[in-house]
Amino acid sequence: MSSLLPPPDRIWWKEPLERVELIWVAIALVWSIVMFFMMPYWHVYGKQNVSNEAYKTTPEAFKAKTEAMVEQYTVRTETAGNIPVVRPPVGDVYLLARLWEWWPILELEKDQSYRLHIASLDWQHGFSLQPANINLQVLPGYEMVVTVTPNKSGEYSIVCNEYCGIGHHRMIGKIYVTE
Ligand code: CUA
Repeated sequence: MSSLLPPPDRIWWKEPLERVELIWVAIALVWSIVMFFMMPYWHVYGKQNVSNEAYKTTPEAFKAKTEAMVEQYTVRTETAGNIPVVRPPVGDVYLLARLWEWWPILELEKDQSYRLHIASLDWQHGFSLQPANINLQVLPGYEMVVTVTPNKSGEYSIVCNEYCGIGHHRMIGKIYVTE
């Protein structure tokens, strides 16, 4: 067979659509439109949205605010690194992320509302609260503020869920909720 042969009687891009093909194209189109409108719909009506705000900050300013809280409200220290356990009054509480820790350990009261401020001092980290499954991006230069009202007492773990280097898997923090 040679390329010098005349073209076949039909040209491929001019062939009529098969019925089945047309049905699938229609299904894909309708579904993509449904998915598109689900995005704004869930943004407004979805119960999974975390009520958060974001502000600009600097690592220095955020560190200073966190340290001020730690200095004033530390009740004890814990684990090998002498991590302070802080029991702040209801209101603004601070948690910083850095290579590779969540600092400090917070102790909150059940059924009280706190404004939890979170920022990174270095790279991007991911705040993942377990087992509540609340997830937030934590970035340097930005302060995320989440209004939290813990409704169950116990010990919660914070796992870093953005890869941040060699110590990423060890970047685990804690929040206590007491009665
Ligand atoms: Cu911090 Cu991964």
